[in-house]
Amino acid sequence: MAALLEVKNLEISYGDRVTVADVNFALEQGEILSIVGESGSGKTTVIRAAMGCLPGNGRISGGDVIFEGRSLLNNTADQWRAMSGTAMSMIFQDSGNMINPIRTIGSQFIDFIRRHDPAKSKSEARNKAEEMLASVNLPNVKTIMANYPFELSGGMRQRVGIAMAMTFSPKILLADEPTSALDGTTQAQIVNQIMDLRAKYNVTVIIVTHNLGLASYMSNKIMVMKNGRVTESGTRDEVIFNPKDDYTKTLLAAVPIIGSEPYYAA
Ligand SMILES: Nc1ncnc2c1ncn2[C@@H]1O[C@H](COP(=O)(O)OP(=O)(O)OP(=O)(O)O)[C@@H](O)[C@H]1O
Ligand SMILES: [Mg+2]
Repeated sequence: MAALLEVKNLEISYGDRVTVADVNFALEQGEILSIVGESGSGKTTVIRAAMGCLPGNGRISGGDVIFEGRSLLNNTADQWRAMSGTAMSMIFQDSGNMINPIRTIGSQFIDFIRRHDPAKSKSEARNKAEEMLASVNLPNVKTIMANYPFELSGGMRQRVGIAMAMTFSPKILLADEPTSALDGTTQAQIVNQIMDLRAKYNVTVIIVTHNLGLASYMSNKIMVMKNGRVTESGTRDEVIFNPKDDYTKTLLAAVPIIGSEPYYAA
């Protein structure tokens, strides 16, 4: 079977500066890839490139991104817009950043749904939004629809972000440090929420994290980056139990690894 998403010799530049190079990975449906590495190593740049949303003067300067057998490099802006939120969705570090602070959750969730699916009436969109909020275990969804973002906790806002991201059953969910703004207990809840979505919808997940312990817990593939290069890449067990690179070993020394199997295989 061909991979759902294949990244081949990817090179990304900001202006004239090659920032990330030689990135390769292939993911089947339902796989979870963690991208791990220090600040500035290029993690966000890689997932943004895969979604066609590089900031500033960022561009793919070499290699290819192939989704369902088709290169995305020649996508028009309209094609990227059509894919975003439907074929691929992104969850950010703090969904507060992508949610408008001066509008209720309900009004922006309904707009989001109708923007991607104009055939839906307002009340159909409202029902869909409430169904999605309930599916990520938010209580009292009618109250949440009427709330402003600041009236929710960080964990609740992140669940709203996940609910929106999952609305159109994307094949790929990209999560950029989705838990790093949260406290420990809430972090675990959000991680388990993402794992549940994978189990329920067989969505492919790419998660960016500083934390190799979290990567070990969640993923079946791990890619380690440093200075815009991949220093190590492999299955979860290869990277965790048989690391080849010194930098991976240093990262591993810093975190406790629990269990011998990734969470979802247990
Ligand atoms: N908009 C931009 N314009 C120019 N250079 C950028 C831009 N965004 C990122 N870079 C550069 O790309 C490199 C990788 O940045 P990136 O944000 O991908 O790192 P990261 O691994 O996600 O770091 P962090 O863990 O801090 O989020 C850095 O050298 C950064 O300066
Ligand atoms: Mg980043």
